[in-house]
Amino acid sequence: MKFFIDTANLEQIKEAQELGILDGVTTNPSLMAKEGITGAENILKHYLNICNLVDGDVSAEVIATDYEGMIKQGEELAALHPKIVVKIPMIADGVKACKYFSDKEIRTNVTLVFSAGQALLAAKAGATYMSPFIGRLDDISTDGLGLIADIRHIYDNYGFETQILAASVRHTMHIMDCAKIGADVMTGPLSAIKGLLKHPLTDSGLAQFLADYAKGN
Ligand code: G3P
Repeated sequence: MKFFIDTANLEQIKEAQELGILDGVTTNPSLMAKEGITGAENILKHYLNICNLVDGDVSAEVIATDYEGMIKQGEELAALHPKIVVKIPMIADGVKACKYFSDKEIRTNVTLVFSAGQALLAAKAGATYMSPFIGRLDDISTDGLGLIADIRHIYDNYGFETQILAASVRHTMHIMDCAKIGADVMTGPLSAIKGLLKHPLTDSGLAQFLADYAKGN
């Protein structure tokens, strides 16, 4: 299972990278704005900074919502750095743009996926990654993890190679449940990733080992 961090915060990206478990980064315009990164030029610079920090894939989102605009922006983003994956919204022109990029072997991440039908379209269009937002479904009393399971089932039925990138992950149990279902990737906040470390028996066991070692020294 690949681990992506879902943030535009360079300190947090660096911390996850240094932990040695990071496979990539996802961002979106809201995450950029949260870090005070606004304006096309600053956003492009920030993508480059992220690419220089990490080893894996970096999703960079188009802002255009029409086919031509998405192609233009997506090509600019892809040319920025080999690690860039072009992030495209799940709308009709986005599906068309996804097919265009897939034919040109430019990697894509189809975002804002909330149904299995949308996931099927993304796979048919040759998306590299497809991002169902599980936390936002949970927010409206809909089963986000159930969607991941449905998509896994459908993709396996036909051998689609599009990777299921579980997004809008909010906590450690989302990560573990996605791993059980077989999501290819999860993207979540650093807090959810670091939450996997925690176990009181690890802490008490280590404290005991250190105390016992200290007896002989
Ligand atoms: O990965 C998608 C993500 O950025 C949305 O997360 O928590 O705003 O639903 P959230």
